[in-house]
Order: sequence, then C-alpha cells, then structure tokens
Amino acid sequence: TTGVARGAAGYVPGIPRMGFPPLYLVDGSVGVGNATGESTALPSALASAATWDLELAYRYGVVLGKDMRAHGVNVHLGGNVNLVGREPRNGRAFETKGEDPILAGRINAAHLRGTQDQNVVACIKHFALNDQETDRTMASVIIDERAARETDLLAFEIGVKDAGVQSVMAGYNLVSGAWCSENDALLDGVLKQDWGFAGFVLSDWYGTHSCAPAAMAGLDMEMPGSAFFGGMRAAIESGLVPQARLDDMVHRIVRAVFAVGLYDHPTSPGTVDAEANLAVARAVAEQGTVLLRNEGQLPLSPGVRSIAVIGPHADVGVIAGGGSADVVPIGGSALVERSSVMGSIFPVRWLPSSPLAAIRAKAPGATVRFLDGASAAEAAALAAQSEVVIVFAAQWSVEALDRPDLGLVDLVHPASPLDQDALIRAVASANPRTIVVLEGPGAQAMPWLSSVGAVLAAWYPGQRGAEAIAGILFGDVNPSGKLPITFPRNSADLPRPTIGSGTTPFDVRYDEGLRTGYRWFDAQAIEPLFPFGFGLSYTTFTLSGATVSLASGDQLTVTVDLANTGARSGAEVVQVYLSMPASLGEPPRRLVGWKKVTLAAGAREKVTIVVDGNSSAHPLGYWDTATRSWSIAPGEYGVYVGNSSRSLSLAGTVRR
Ligand code: BGC
Repeated sequence: TTGVARGAAGYVPGIPRMGFPPLYLVDGSVGVGNATGESTALPSALASAATWDLELAYRYGVVLGKDMRAHGVNVHLGGNVNLVGREPRNGRAFETKGEDPILAGRINAAHLRGTQDQNVVACIKHFALNDQETDRTMASVIIDERAARETDLLAFEIGVKDAGVQSVMAGYNLVSGAWCSENDALLDGVLKQDWGFAGFVLSDWYGTHSCAPAAMAGLDMEMPGSAFFGGMRAAIESGLVPQARLDDMVHRIVRAVFAVGLYDHPTSPGTVDAEANLAVARAVAEQGTVLLRNEGQLPLSPGVRSIAVIGPHADVGVIAGGGSADVVPIGGSALVERSSVMGSIFPVRWLPSSPLAAIRAKAPGATVRFLDGASAAEAAALAAQSEVVIVFAAQWSVEALDRPDLGLVDLVHPASPLDQDALIRAVASANPRTIVVLEGPGAQAMPWLSSVGAVLAAWYPGQRGAEAIAGILFGDVNPSGKLPITFPRNSADLPRPTIGSGTTPFDVRYDEGLRTGYRWFDAQAIEPLFPFGFGLSYTTFTLSGATVSLASGDQLTVTVDLANTGARSGAEVVQVYLSMPASLGEPPRRLVGWKKVTLAAGAREKVTIVVDGNSSAHPLGYWDTATRSWSIAPGEYGVYVGNSSRSLSLAGTVRR
C-alpha cells in the first residue's frame, strides 16, 4: 500500500489481531530520510568506507537503526552496495561503499548489523549491477557469470551471509535482458538458492513489471502500491502462481520481523539521541577524510595570521547528496536550494556545519575572511592578500542523474553555472598556499592539482563535517582515511568513457569483466590520479619484516612490523593484496585484508592480518563456471603488503 504514514516511503498495514506491526519502509543510505523529520545527517556511506574501520561502520549502522526507532519506523532502505567502479560518475556514488567487493561488502555488512541490532529490518540494495543512473530502468547489464560472482555479486553475498540482512531490494535495471525484479537467475537462483537467503525481496519503487513472472522469479513484495501484485488472487486462481508461493512470500516477510526482534520490540515515535549520534557523525568524518596532497602546508599553525575561506555557502554549511538519500538534519538545514533534475525538483541541502565558523574557532588570532567564489577575480584578490587560502569546493550529486564527467560540474544552477575548477585555478595562481577541501560524491578530476598546496577529500562530510575538517586542517586529528575508490584522471580512462542511454532496454556490456575499479587501472597499466587505498598522513609509517604463511584450511596469515616514524600519533591502514595463480587469468592484484592501527609517535607494533580463505568473502577463491561454485586453485599466490594499491611490496609467496 502506498502511504505517507510516519513519513515513510512505503507502508504495509499491520495485523492488529495478531499483534503484527505495520511496516514503515524508510530510506536511506546516509541517515533516516523521506518525510520522517529531523535525523542524524551522517557523512556519506562512501566516507564510512574511507575509514576502513569496521567497528566505526557498525556504529554508523547503529545510528541509522536508532534513528529509525526514534521515528517509529522499522524497515531501513539503506545498504546500497553497488560497486561504483563500474561507473564512477554514478549520481549515487556517495551512497555506495566503493569499488572493492570485500571492502564494500564488509563495511556494508557492518552497517547492516548495526542497524538490525536495533531490532529493525535492514535492506541491501540494488540487487544487482544497478550501476548507472542514466536511463536506469532501461540499462541491461551484460556480464559474464564469473566476473559477476567475483565482483558485484560478492559484495551482496558478504552482506547476506555476514550480516544476515533480512531484506533485499531488486534493482531498476535489467541483467541479461531480464528486469531485476523478475530475474529468476538472480532472485531465485543466486540469492535464495545459492546463498540461502531467508528474508524477503522487494522491488525498487515502481520497479515491478509483472505479477506472475515476478512472483515466480522470487519477488516477495511490490513497492509501493499494488499495480501488479494486486492481481495475485487472479494469478493464483488461474494457476499461474501456486498458493505455496504466496505462503512463502508471507512467511519470508513475517519471519524477517521476528528474526530482527521487531515483533518483540515494536517501534513507536520517540526522540533522536542527538548527542551520541552526532559524535559518531563527527568520528566518521574525522576518520574518513582523505588527505590527497600536502606540499608541506598542512597542518596549519594556530599562529596563522590571515585566512581566506572561499566557496559556495562555506559560511553556513556543508553540502549533502540528494535523492532518496536526502536527510533533514538535526536542528534543520543551514540552507536549501532547489535543482530541477529529470523533470522533478530536488532539494539541494546544506547541513548546519559552517566551515567558516569552524575555522574561526581554530584560529582565534587570525583574520578570517569569506567569499562565496561567485567572482573568481574577487576571490583571487582576497587570496593574494591572505597568508592561507582554503577553498571549499562542493559538487552536488543526486539520484537519477549521473555526472557528465569527473570535473566540478554545477548541477544546481545549470543556467548560470559556477565553474569551481576555474575558481580554484584563479585562487591558486594568486596564492599557491591554497588548500582545496573537496565535498563531493566520489571520484573527482583535478585539472588544477599541481598548482595547489594541499587537497582533502571530505566526501559529503555530514552535519559535523566542518568541525571534523577544521580539526584535520589544524592537526588536532591526523588524517588517516584511505580512498575506497580509484580517482581516475578523467573519464577517458574508464572502461566505458561514454554512459549508454536509451528509452527502451539497451545493453551495457561489462567487457572489462573482473577488471573493475583499481583492477582495471592495474590490468591496463593506466596511471590513476590517486589510487585505491591511498591517503596521506601528518606522520610517517614504515612497514618491514613481513612474513606470510598458508595454513591448512586456507588460512593465510601475514605479519608485518608497523612503525610510526614521524612526530605525531596517527593511524595507518595496513593493506594486504593477493596475486592469483597465473593460470586463472585474474587482474594483477585484489585486496584480501587490512587492519587500521593507531600508533603514537615513535611507537611500533607487530600487525597480524589473518585472511580466512573460507569466509563469505572468498578472498582466495575464484568462481568455477564448470561446477558453478567457488573454488581455490592450486598454484602460487603472491602476497603484497603496503598502504595503497599502488604502494606495495611483495611480502612473500605461498603455494597451495
Ligand atoms: C531508489 C531506492 C529507494 C526508493 C524509495 C528509489 O528511487 O532507487 O534506493 O529506496 O526510491 O525511496
């Protein structure tokens, strides 16, 4: 049933005589949204992935679940784990957890567990391969089975198996010519039979195309309304759908409500736990912000005398992504603009976290002046008079629209666009002590990179973002986030430089197969702007003395000595990558494990990373198309350790 009950995007009436609760289905990926009211506006899900911190990701999920309960709603539609390496310009990149199946899968699983532990149903979406927003209901992905299993589907498999997520949303798109909501191979085959998924599958909004074919392919719930499933009685009476299949649908939904403890702990509207949740929002922004460039300019000294803060609305707030992931922040928005996208008007939300105020608070002795950057000439003049310049560049992004390219493109005021790339160029040529803070959905091209002193990728930093960014700029917090995606130099370096489109189903061929994300850049020997796993720090770390061993049961153990050789305390993410036996024809390397370790200046630690070859992530495995199962091949595996996908050394080889 369609409904706006409690502000939800979807509603299923309860059964009072059985004490069965109504279901209120609510987005979204970075907070609790739709029309529920104020909730914690978290940093983007991609920022959470950039922390590489599973415990903090769990707390991110807890905030989502707690806010769901506070609004009396109970099915959370977050859990977007489409792998953004397939289409980095995807307008929903900020909702995803990046391009690597294991990192994305595990960060997402931690979110889902945190949410379901609050006794609400979580959801993983959009199953599957829903990677472009351009004509998203017509794009038909063509990918070979092995590539799908080892990349995009693997991220879902981890969520289904490790988090026990109780609902799965089918994508809008088609896979091999069949819409996801009636794709028997995906829903019944991969999800329910192969993975043993016991929860329910719902359609994306108005993404159902039939009754009997969808029901028989494995769709359990149409959302919203009943344009197709309203015909279920007739489909059963005519024998197109057996009664047992309807019983199975009902069983799956009812079971999910019991499985997460929702039946025993029904939700009713209360109050958002603002203080605790905002602390998590801040921690994620601090841990997820990635320092990409630093020509000795950061951290800033508290003794700095004059600072120019430049950028749209940087006096009042930080920008957030739009669409179903839109969240009304606690305390209300700083500012709401409007953008017209695909014939609809979307709010462009600025969260109440002022970069200007946060910087003033850190440098009370400095003259801090602000310009919005509408005039590049005025901004350059102010930059020339200032000791330090901080440009807050904001790239808005929204569901239903892909970015035309990876540069800074104004999607909010297309009639009179602000050219932020030109603004940065002008400012940096007036003052090379320019720091660029990028607020955006994901990968960003930087044509001005060599002319600026420092760059921070702050993603969409959430409603404590400015405070977190200021803490990093002034060195209270050491930057320790690492990229969960590749930053390509430009769209020409992508597997599909042009995004396909069409008004009837059209094929999108994933000919790159297994080579998605950094695996593409590695396999094709293309130099990215910044590689997957990369991130600078204010301190320095060394890795030495690595050992590797493979024990029975396919347990790969890597030990390595990590030393903080710099003058500040900080965290490093020790990353383990594997090269597979040559006979398999895999891309050069895959991430199989990591550990984020915080060390005081001068401290060292022996770091042990155990990679369980039999886990749901199948880190040593390949998909055997002959047996249609995961397998671990005999042969030689190279084990690499380092702090980015392009800064690795061979720790050893193991034979199996
Ligand atoms: C989105 C889903 C979302 C749903 C409900 C759709 O447009 O693709 O991710 O959960 O709307 O708001």
